[in-house]
Amino acid sequence: MKNTIQIQDTEFELFLENDQICKKIRLMAIQLDLDYESRCPVFIGVLNGSFIFMADLLKEINTVCEVGFIRVSSYAGTSSTGSVKEIFGLPDDLRNRDVILVEDIVDSGTTLEHILQEVRKQNPASLAVCSLLLKPAALKSKIDALEYVGFEIPNEFVVGYGLDYNGLGRNLKDIYKAKTVR
Ligand code: IMP
Ligand code: MG
Repeated sequence: MKNTIQIQDTEFELFLENDQICKKIRLMAIQLDLDYESRCPVFIGVLNGSFIFMADLLKEINTVCEVGFIRVSSYAGTSSTGSVKEIFGLPDDLRNRDVILVEDIVDSGTTLEHILQEVRKQNPASLAVCSLLLKPAALKSKIDALEYVGFEIPNEFVVGYGLDYNGLGRNLKDIYKAKTVR
């Protein structure tokens, strides 16, 4: 793996190696298996960012479960636009289900709050969020549903392992963070 990469105008440096990510995912899966045993939860991944995390996480889950994806778009470049658009593909039969939303990263939390609001309208039996990354310093307000977090990271822009910079870099195995301009 490379220590630095260039995507368009920005240089990124290695931040979290794939091995480290996969180890964390195994721990998260053990916890989820314990918490959701025999409840047949439904995991809902938030596209596009969650696609690799979702695949790696679900392969480690032994609990019988359903898997689906939704899509929301609200982000351009390296800073949040603050506006959340429509949610596509949300199942309409979540009543009395144990729902786990799977996110790549929670930044300001705006996107997540919006999705949570929509899911709650259906009165699920329970609702939790599992995010690989969290930027605590960027979070606008505490989100109680955010029960499973892989890594808390500084308020810096990251790419790879599903995360993109202007649509690029999602395919990188490892996670890189933007080098600060000096
Ligand atoms: P929020 O609404 O500010 O929490 O933004 C959440 C969404 O913004 C995430 O699901 C990502 O798609 C995107 N995002 C936030 N921070 C980053 C980052 O550092 N790299 C890539 N995408 C990010
Ligand atoms: Mg996302």
